[in-house]
Amino acid sequence: MLGLRCTHANGHHGSMTIPSRTLNDGHSIPAIGFGSYRLRGEEGTTAVAQALDAGYRLIDTASAYENEQEVGEGIRASGLPREQLFITTKLAGRHHGYDKTLEGFDQSRTALGLDFIDLYLIHWPLPRLDLFVESWHALVNLRDEGLVRSIGVSNFTEAHLTRLMDETGIVPAVNQVEMHPRFGQQALRAFHAAHGILTQAWSPLSAGHGVLDDPVIGRISHAHDVSPAQAVLRWHIQLGSVPIPKSGSGSRLRQNLDVFGFELTAAELDEISGLEAGRLWGGDPDTHEEF
Ligand SMILES: NC(=O)c1ccc[n+]([C@@H]2O[C@H](COP(=O)([O-])OP(=O)(O)OC[C@H]3O[C@@H](n4cnc5c(N)ncnc54)[C@H](OP(=O)(O)O)[C@@H]3O)[C@@H](O)[C@H]2O)c1
Repeated sequence: MLGLRCTHANGHHGSMTIPSRTLNDGHSIPAIGFGSYRLRGEEGTTAVAQALDAGYRLIDTASAYENEQEVGEGIRASGLPREQLFITTKLAGRHHGYDKTLEGFDQSRTALGLDFIDLYLIHWPLPRLDLFVESWHALVNLRDEGLVRSIGVSNFTEAHLTRLMDETGIVPAVNQVEMHPRFGQQALRAFHAAHGILTQAWSPLSAGHGVLDDPVIGRISHAHDVSPAQAVLRWHIQLGSVPIPKSGSGSRLRQNLDVFGFELTAAELDEISGLEAGRLWGGDPDTHEEF
């Protein structure tokens, strides 16, 4: 169900074809996206426009990033037809609860300047508040009204997912979680696969924490004549996760998209997975809170 299909249109500047995957609700999602955390102000608008120009179609933002307006401006600057885009945003902690979720969604959609959102995620489960099931009901309602195409969650553990599915009968299309060579999420990915949930990888390059300098990554990238970032992104693609790398640099964001022309061996995938060392900064979904 989550296999790669090469059906997407070319980037309008050239030859980059981005494959897509199919979600459990039948919608397509690009196999790689652009992360926008910390890209704000003019830098944010320029980076999003550059990413779209390079061929990205999935842009990841969140209410908490305080850049939805810039993302919207970047989208409009690209001149691309809405139907070619896949825009993700997320519900902030301060908007947990049924009515507040509808309010938070409306604020995001207005800031982005869009009629509908392709993918809306609950950003963190915040189990202490115990409101994520209520918020999920609101997301289902937004989907039924056509304001959101696909609904999902972020930073949910197996226990959170199980509760959501048991209490509502509705399986999230996506769970966006921390995933990179130091934190491969093997058990959670197996659970996702068993339930048809797509894994999206945040901090896929490990957000500057040194993974790209690891000698194992260096050797494997050298063997394929690609950069360390490209080798890591290819590992994600072959494991079936959708990485959303962030870059404020035009050349690096283009490089990160160019990961469909080579293949890692099973042994290389295992070597990269063998770099497991734990979360980058302790973003434990059971305790981490942000509002
Ligand atoms: N759901 C959540 O809770 C959550 C949490 C964290 C992040 N996210 C999402 O995930 C996205 C990506 O995660 P992230 O921004 O934390 O980290 P990341 O994408 O793993 O790494 C970004 C860092 O890597 C550098 N970089 C990018 N491409 C590179 C390349 N080809 N070679 C060398 N360095 C490169 C960037 O620097 P330059 O910009 O200088 O290129 C930046 O410092 C975020 O932007 C956000 O959309 C979601």
